[in-house]
Amino acid sequence: METRKLGNTDLEVTRLAFGGARIGFEDVTNDQVDALLNGLLDNGVTFLDTAACYDDSEELIGKFVSHRRDEYVLASKCGHVAGDATSEPWAADTIAHSIDRSLQRLKTDRIDLMQLHSCSAEVLQEGEAVETVVRAQEAGKVRYVSYSGDGENALHAIGMGVFATLQTSYNVVDQKARGSVLPAAVEAGMGIVAKRPIANGAFGKAASPYSYADEYWDRSQEMAVPDGAPEDRIELALRFTLSHDAIDTAIVGTTKLANAQSNIEALAKGPLDASVTKSLQDQFDRLGADWDSRT
Ligand SMILES: NC(=O)c1ccc[n+]([C@@H]2O[C@H](COP(=O)([O-])OP(=O)(O)OC[C@H]3O[C@@H](n4cnc5c(N)ncnc54)[C@H](OP(=O)(O)O)[C@@H]3O)[C@@H](O)[C@H]2O)c1
Repeated sequence: METRKLGNTDLEVTRLAFGGARIGFEDVTNDQVDALLNGLLDNGVTFLDTAACYDDSEELIGKFVSHRRDEYVLASKCGHVAGDATSEPWAADTIAHSIDRSLQRLKTDRIDLMQLHSCSAEVLQEGEAVETVVRAQEAGKVRYVSYSGDGENALHAIGMGVFATLQTSYNVVDQKARGSVLPAAVEAGMGIVAKRPIANGAFGKAASPYSYADEYWDRSQEMAVPDGAPEDRIELALRFTLSHDAIDTAIVGTTKLANAQSNIEALAKGPLDASVTKSLQDQFDRLGADWDSRT
């Protein structure tokens, strides 16, 4: 499978990767997650993304694939209150506790990317949140200090020069990052991870697949599928995202091994025809003045 080095880090990851939110929030059986996570690794996927606040996502990864820890690059996130209702978001003790909790739940002694989970530019400026992750890095708990977020907050994070990677929204109906965020992150030598890379599976669907996808589904109703685009709308959405050269990897969320396998097959088809990509970009630029990057 095609791989990329994440910016200036020494981490190499597959361009198709796994987003762990859905296994945390959806009703999934242990057998299903076991087959999914081990199947992803068996199929050569080498990057797993999760977060402290994705319900039991970290625990499931720890439970079912920690025995294969050397086979994957592992990213998690911190900053929200998770597992301790008395603490404040972004405070040093919240983040320090969250990182220790993530290590325990993921059953590992190191997390490759620890991402501040969508904090504001103000929180970044205060310094406490970043310094706490840096201290975890110095203690060997975290390999790289990273940021997850969008728009002006992401631009601020990039400008600080302390983050190794950026996780940001990028997909066919959420392309604002194309303007300044992606070029700035590339210029800064950061690895770039696309979140929500297939627009929550909403593009080209007759109905929104679930309420979280409603906003993307509404946007997708206004966009036309260009001539020459692949029939399969999930394939179209995934290949659109990965056709942008700045995107190192797309963390597709899924609860199903069969869907992961079909996404791997889509990736193998390579970038979309340039005219299809251009049409989708032009449509977004024409229609999407108010379609901000979703956090
Ligand atoms: N940092 C942040 O604040 C933030 C915010 C949002 C997301 N994220 C990260 O980004 C990851 C991905 O985002 P996401 O899960 O919201 O959206 P997504 O990856 O764009 O879409 C996920 C949806 O697509 C469906 N899907 C996947 N492959 C499919 C296929 N081949 N055929 C049909 N449906 C398919 C999934 O359903 P099935 O389960 O049925 O396959 C799921 O409903 C998250 O898991 C998380 O790691 C981060």
